[in-house]
Amino acid sequence: MLPDLDQLKATYLSQIAEADGLDGLDAIRVDALGKKGNISTAMKNLGQLDGDARREAGQALNALKNEIASAIEAKKEELARAALDARLASEQVDVTLSPRPEAEGRIHPLSRTLEEVTAIFAEMGFTVAEGPDIESDFYNFTALNIPPEHPARQEHDTFYLPPDAEGKRKVLRTHTSPVQIRTMEKIEPPIRIIAPGRTYRSDHDATHSPMFHQCEGLVIGKDIHMGHLKGCLIDFCRAFFGVDDLPVRFRPSYFPFTEPSAEVDIGCSREGGGLKIGAGDDWLEILGSGMVNPKVLENCGIDPNEYQGFAFGMGLERIAMLKYGIPDLRPFYDSDLRWMRHYGFMPFDPPSIHLGLGA
Ligand code: PHE
Repeated sequence: MLPDLDQLKATYLSQIAEADGLDGLDAIRVDALGKKGNISTAMKNLGQLDGDARREAGQALNALKNEIASAIEAKKEELARAALDARLASEQVDVTLSPRPEAEGRIHPLSRTLEEVTAIFAEMGFTVAEGPDIESDFYNFTALNIPPEHPARQEHDTFYLPPDAEGKRKVLRTHTSPVQIRTMEKIEPPIRIIAPGRTYRSDHDATHSPMFHQCEGLVIGKDIHMGHLKGCLIDFCRAFFGVDDLPVRFRPSYFPFTEPSAEVDIGCSREGGGLKIGAGDDWLEILGSGMVNPKVLENCGIDPNEYQGFAFGMGLERIAMLKYGIPDLRPFYDSDLRWMRHYGFMPFDPPSIHLGLGA
């Protein structure tokens, strides 16, 4: 009939007290309270009793069931606490241990220069545009008013790709100017973009690399004139080099895609073999510029009687070398850590640009 409840209680409570892990505790729970456990079975057998005896036994069984269940819960908490105490004791952190030195990276001078150039033009309301490194002859030359057989093509020392099915040869873009065309095809004026990126020419010495970087600029609007070109580029040069009264000179030049064209020089001095940027009796060429040739506007479906604008292009390595006194271009791409430690920038250095242009 009914098991001896006092006996059951004594057995289970002592088993629970002795349990040394959650698995053992669960086995006790199943044995006592599980579907086929002793208490559950006894409850099922209550039906065999009658009247008062059944009620009494039912109450006693319920009480026992609750007592065992809460003893199991309490033991569970005790085990969890003990496990945590053991972990805390074994995983102590020794705060007196000296820290392991962390390898610290550097920002490449070219990345830094690009950040600075972008920040200066962003202040003037420019956004950044992009184009592909592999260009069609049309975008790199023809649309920029450099027709086939034009001598400018030879000057570019172009890398050509093998001809495609139609016999057309793509090129590695020789300048960022094709992004002018792509931008004018895509968006309606007014336009105010810069387009930094990789460019390629077959040329290799201390100041030329077959892959290098340029930053293009393009401004198109109804009232844009050469005064805007000059003001924009003077402000840029002074902000970039951090010299408020930097002399800037516009020297007449020729590019097929601008008319008139001007090369931009900044003042410098070369006393005692060292180059110093600022007022002096010498000049350094730093970028090409001009008013967008009406033929180029027409090639892009923009009416030159309604719109005009200016464009410019500069070599990023060149301005980085001038600003940071880096004498040779080749180590830019050598990934030599000694060079990076010398010429690179700490990640959290604020960029040394002088914002608040026109101030
Ligand atoms: N694309 C020219 C170069 O590579 C630079 C330039 C850009 C000149 C835009 C005028 C206007 O030399």
